Amino acid sequence: MSTRTVYLETFGCQMNELDSELVAGQLRTLGYRFVQSASDANVVLYNTCSVREHAEQKVWSRLGELKDRKLTDPNLIVGVLGCMAERDGTDLIKRMPVVDVLVGPAELDKLPGLLDNALRTRESLQAEPLVDINTNKPVMISANQVALQGSASRRSATLAAAGDSLELLDLSRSISPLDDDGPVSRSAYVRITRGCNKFCTYCVVPFTRGAEVHRPPDHIIDECKKLADAGAIEITLLGQTVNHYRFEHGAAVTIDGLTQPQKGRSFTGGHRRDPLAGANVTTFADLLRRIHDEVPAIKRLRFVTSYPRDFGDDVLEVIRHHPRICRYLHVPAQSGSDRLLKLMNRGYTVAEYLEFLDRTREYLDQPEIGRPLMLSGDFITGFPTETDEDFNLTKQFLVRCRYKNAFIFKYSPRPGTIAFDKLADDIPEHTKRARNNELLALQNQIADDISREQIGRTFDVLVEGLSRQTLKKQGKTSGDLRKAGQVTITIGGRNLAPDDRNDQSNQNDQPAACSTTATSVLEVPANNTAEKLQLACRTDGDLIVFIDHPAATANSLIGQILKARITTANMLSLQGELVEEVLKK
Ligand code: 5AD
Ligand code: SF4
Repeated sequence: MSTRTVYLETFGCQMNELDSELVAGQLRTLGYRFVQSASDANVVLYNTCSVREHAEQKVWSRLGELKDRKLTDPNLIVGVLGCMAERDGTDLIKRMPVVDVLVGPAELDKLPGLLDNALRTRESLQAEPLVDINTNKPVMISANQVALQGSASRRSATLAAAGDSLELLDLSRSISPLDDDGPVSRSAYVRITRGCNKFCTYCVVPFTRGAEVHRPPDHIIDECKKLADAGAIEITLLGQTVNHYRFEHGAAVTIDGLTQPQKGRSFTGGHRRDPLAGANVTTFADLLRRIHDEVPAIKRLRFVTSYPRDFGDDVLEVIRHHPRICRYLHVPAQSGSDRLLKLMNRGYTVAEYLEFLDRTREYLDQPEIGRPLMLSGDFITGFPTETDEDFNLTKQFLVRCRYKNAFIFKYSPRPGTIAFDKLADDIPEHTKRARNNELLALQNQIADDISREQIGRTFDVLVEGLSRQTLKKQGKTSGDLRKAGQVTITIGGRNLAPDDRNDQSNQNDQPAACSTTATSVLEVPANNTAEKLQLACRTDGDLIVFIDHPAATANSLIGQILKARITTANMLSLQGELVEEVLKK
């Protein structure tokens, strides 16, 4: 068998980044070698996102680029993973016959077997005609093209079966302190919940990722411990509505009601232990407490994305009293108009969201001890029927919320969603764009004010890597800095999505080493010790701080948590200086 070389590109959210990391880990242990360019690979995989049309278009164009190559290189295997595979199914293969393997998000553990099969039988393939059900014309589809979808069927699957299959990918995580190119990243993602039950009317996620399933707490804690043993000091827990986590012991997994709002729970109630379930339930607050106490080597514990309805006081209490849980919450609001929130089926009003916000600030905003609470949010502009009055309400709301950053998206109608079926996409593109830009400009002002407030404060910062500015000066591209086998992240990353996330210019200079990517280390010539390099660091509230540091020792600081004082704030980033260069034990 010839060498198996893989190019894996990831689109979309952190959940996809984690899926890609797990898939890459599985394939690596089977002997696949990862390369940085599709043209060097005999297996090309795209892990896709369907949340907005723009993300899908990128994948279509990548697939289009492979068409010619496929004609001359029949050994090429092309796989589409993730949400597009789930949503479009075999229609995707019919439109793009270049695709050999389709695997939905719930079936990713089966990818190695499918690829192996495709590679082994490649030479003996016979093309056979298939008829397109829409046009009645023959479609070329090769004999081993396979499509695996699961989320849709999972809605009616039994709990145990769903849980078993879904756990496999996460449990397969291979964690070792050293891999080919150096230590594992100091930051890692851990999934706690899959899927979503909220059914916001604009959103495809409940359809592509299926019903909400909560992972057993012992599995989560084991994974955190293994990551910590391998060198991770920061863990970000992932879930579409992460604070909705609730595990009922005795069931293989917990899938709760598919409709929302769920009866009997108050807006501020979160997941209180209900008397009938008693101690047999692990709530989100319980889980945070357990990870904090049982895995002390994790110096920073974050979680995204939170749902405003599900923030009970129990969770806020735990965050307040457990110092290694970060004072950073990403809690999308989507709109500041009650009328639109209702049309979006968000399940709360503006007043309820603001009540949550004030309560949370009361518990968690402690600038006097260097721990100001930082919030971020998401908004959609141009949702069907949005009037100038609705938009003005959203602007007022944005000012009131004072997010450190907000992701602002133009409404993108997604086939299969309730809004797509029931509401005409009646806001012209230029209005969507103008509102988007206006909201972004307003948010930039707010972020600028928040940045200036930090001057003179001292924070614990995690040194994540060299800044992009430094890397550019050194003539390094992000590609050079990824270790072999690193997945390529095209859109997404924590707060990082310049092309899809509508010019979030406050996030432009991201550290090269963020989220699950390898720590970037640069060779420093021995004769150049006076040179200063810019380090990109992050506070526990997710503020990015740049620190100039002598080149000779800059690398040794990467991955450490150090104290830094903020000296200047320019528009959207902070500059600081180290107060003490001692790794906090
Ligand atoms: N159009 C625009 N933005 C969307 N989002 C989700 N679905 C859509 C859509 N159809 C945004 C929401 C969500 C974020 C992940 O993506 O703001 O919070
Ligand atoms: Fe989509 Fe709403 Fe679920 Fe978020 S909470 S993933 S926006 S359906």
